Amino acid sequence: MNKVFKVAENALSRSVDDITQGRRLRRMRRSEWSRNLVQENQLNAKDLIWPIFIIDGQSQREEISAMPGVGRFSADLAVLEAKRAMTLGIPAVALFANVDVSLRDATGSQILDPDNLINRATRSIKDNVPDIGVITDVALDPFTDHGHDGILREGIIVNDETVDVIARAAELQARAGADIIAPSDMMDGRIGAIRDSLDSGGFQDVAIMSYATKFASAFYGPYREAIGTDKTLKGDKKTYYLDPANTDEALRETEQDIAEGADMVMVKPGMPYLDIVRRVKETFQMPTFAYQVSGEYSMIEAAAANGWIDGERVMMESLLAFKRAGCDGILTYFAPRAAELLNR
Ligand code: PBG
Repeated sequence: MNKVFKVAENALSRSVDDITQGRRLRRMRRSEWSRNLVQENQLNAKDLIWPIFIIDGQSQREEISAMPGVGRFSADLAVLEAKRAMTLGIPAVALFANVDVSLRDATGSQILDPDNLINRATRSIKDNVPDIGVITDVALDPFTDHGHDGILREGIIVNDETVDVIARAAELQARAGADIIAPSDMMDGRIGAIRDSLDSGGFQDVAIMSYATKFASAFYGPYREAIGTDKTLKGDKKTYYLDPANTDEALRETEQDIAEGADMVMVKPGMPYLDIVRRVKETFQMPTFAYQVSGEYSMIEAAAANGWIDGERVMMESLLAFKRAGCDGILTYFAPRAAELLNR
């Protein structure tokens, strides 16, 4: 017996059983079946919401260079994607428009066109795949030539005027068939105004998923390429999105949105903000969602493409983490891939 081994042997002054009082937590981890029995959280295809990018035209599919594997689809192809989602057991899709630059202006006036890209796509999907939920983003950024979520006057995003436009746009989206309206702009008072507008239009049953806590995040980078605001956005969104440093303020935002009539609340981005998810869920016990945003998706994809991580396992682990943090569901670009794996 060599000396090194002797030292190691003597290192324990008490036996492990004395230390743990016989409590050995590894017992339940010994085999797959017992790990399965004690598993606390499960991911299901029913937890997933799939964000889909929409472009004009027929039979069009475009690549997004910063989001490998994610496309932009014309409405007819988006219908096929929605069918695929339905088959995979994904309950809902969330639509985001890449609007032709020639149609964008300072006030985002296209958002009030009942036949704009988002409303046409919503109609096509609801006509052809009526049983899938359609969530529409009601924000001005796809329609403004400056890329902001609000009307910009003399360098200021004007709140109330923006809310008025968004509330009217929400009713048009409901008219086109949207089941859930999801305002992502963070203007004050938008939830209440949207609720009023939906109700007076006869859409009492259309729900509101508020982006209750949306942070001024650099993780949205690839999304801006996806909807074409990467080149147009002037400045940043810090006067309306939340400071990434704040969590009490995130609770105040959520409380306000619930008081104004939000049916579901969302935290965005996702993985770097799981502490917010946990606090929101524990404080309000509301249906709580997180958006695993474009930058989160692209980071995983890039590392996987380089062989630095096992992309499939990291994808599933990242989604499970949302469930563990308290999410009822997750908006994720991985939705169809994750659902395929879950259904296997
Ligand atoms: C803006 C909006 C953003 C996202 C969806 N809608 C953020 C932004 O561009 O500032 C981000 C989604 C993502 O990154 O996946 N209304």
